[in-house]
Amino acid sequence: MNKLRIAIQKSGRLNQDSLQILKNCGISIDNGKDQLKASATNFPIEVFYLRNGDIPQYLRDGVVDIAIIGENVLIEKGSDLEFVERLGFSKCKVSIAVPKESNATSLKDLNGKRIATSYPKTVQKFLDEQNIEAQIHIINGSVEIAPNIGLADGICDIVSSGSTLFKNGLKEIEVLLKSEAVLAVSPEISSERKEILSKLQFRIQSVLKGKQ
Ligand code: PRP
Ligand code: MG
Repeated sequence: MNKLRIAIQKSGRLNQDSLQILKNCGISIDNGKDQLKASATNFPIEVFYLRNGDIPQYLRDGVVDIAIIGENVLIEKGSDLEFVERLGFSKCKVSIAVPKESNATSLKDLNGKRIATSYPKTVQKFLDEQNIEAQIHIINGSVEIAPNIGLADGICDIVSSGSTLFKNGLKEIEVLLKSEAVLAVSPEISSERKEILSKLQFRIQSVLKGKQ
């Protein structure tokens, strides 16, 4: 039977909430914990557990039909891809922060300075828009440590509770964008699977309405 292939985050902040929303849609997934693939028992869907950053490419290639992914990742790595639903969880900001004793109060103040980030494209876009030149240092995790070790004057990273900034003596000076989990769709999805997607979207919309 034709099944809709959905990618969700393998581990990390979106994983649990992604599984929960499927569950709230009445979809039961056979979860062999260590398997990277699982099937639903009562809905034509197959779940692939993937690394966040890899998901845009899987969508592009049509290896998966849809994905639950942070809008921030889509903006950074999949700006060519479309999403059909906002899912209302994993809300966060992508922000610029500097050491709390810094005089900088906006991105403009980082002109000529160094910014450490895992979101180089996003940062570059905002720098270009505001005609600012800054050196971007790409780091894949623990970005907030960069100013403390003298690697950068400021950072750009996800802010959720704000506790990572606080613990590292940083303050947010500009919010570049706000993000939440979204349902992204492969440009290669077949018309048969689009029909399954419509059914899933109908359920998701009911779940989200029920929460309001
Ligand atoms: C993420 C993100 C921030 C932090 C924000 O890091 O990169 O550092 O969470 O959340 P907060 O505002 O609630 O503190 P994560 O812990 O996922 O690890 P990583 O940076 O190594 O990917
Ligand atoms: Mg982090």
